[in-house]
Amino acid sequence: MEKLLITHQLPGERVKQLAQTSDVNVWMGPGLLPAQALAEELQGSTGLVCLLTDRIDEALLDSMPALKFISSMSVGVDHIDVAAATQRGIPVGHTPGVLVETTADATFGLLLAAARRMAEADRFVRQGSWRAENAWSPDFFTGKDVAGATLGIVGLGDIGRAVARRAQGFGMDVVAWNRSAVDVPGVSLVDLGTLLGRSDFVSIHVALTADTAELINAERIAAMKPGAVLVNTARGGIVDEQALAQALSAGDLYAAGIDVFGREPVEDDNPLLHLPNVVLTPHIGSATAQTRIEMADLAAGNALAALAGEAMPHCVNPEVYG
Ligand code: GLV
Ligand code: GLV
Repeated sequence: MEKLLITHQLPGERVKQLAQTSDVNVWMGPGLLPAQALAEELQGSTGLVCLLTDRIDEALLDSMPALKFISSMSVGVDHIDVAAATQRGIPVGHTPGVLVETTADATFGLLLAAARRMAEADRFVRQGSWRAENAWSPDFFTGKDVAGATLGIVGLGDIGRAVARRAQGFGMDVVAWNRSAVDVPGVSLVDLGTLLGRSDFVSIHVALTADTAELINAERIAAMKPGAVLVNTARGGIVDEQALAQALSAGDLYAAGIDVFGREPVEDDNPLLHLPNVVLTPHIGSATAQTRIEMADLAAGNALAALAGEAMPHCVNPEVYG
């Protein structure tokens, strides 16, 4: 029987089928599988089902000559050296589609929360500051209007389009930048510079790759419309966090809604942590119980196909099947 490592207990029923065709080793915690333990647990395995928190680099692949496939329970695969896997003929599976609407909801939640200062207002009420001496007034917690504003979507893939639909429902004008030409009703494609200069809200929906690492760097942040809001539910590495924090504290940008960070979990010295006008969530874009079951089912389905000697249904490097 093939040996399979699953780096975390996964929800849903489909994952249970893996034990019928392979010798399954599930990391039971506590917590995440540490990198050193990953290398130990993976010894001799032919298959790996992992999470976005597991780093699969070239050195690890070199030390695992028996490894035949990787199935990640995530849509993003920036935690895996895909080029190195491809060179070794190892297919890498991921979970597109099922998390699109869920992640778009989280994105829009952050956009609204940042525009209307919801997290800051929640802290204000909760800490007992809402008192007669701090009473309701015409300029009390005033924010920024969403209806009539322009949203710039960086990356018009499935999630970007789902965010565009929400924005249209909220009466926003939508522009987008995308690497290739795509035709989405009601969305005008513009170049990135135009998008940054014109948008009142900018939301990021590209994958993190060598091309998009720090795509939103200091220069591009400086090119954003004064008083704009940045939302990021894609990957932290796409944005220069120091430059973003500076623009927010200088008042060049109005606010930000951030779900993903350069280092996760965030460390105390992350400058975004200390700004009142940033709404922060801990990488929960796809976090609904139902979506996590569907992601686990897809990850299990990719692994079941690989174990059966078939092509994975959702593979990021199908060229390995030549
Ligand atoms: C979440 O960030 C994912 O890549 O699935
Ligand atoms: C706000 O609550 C209003 O009544 O205008």
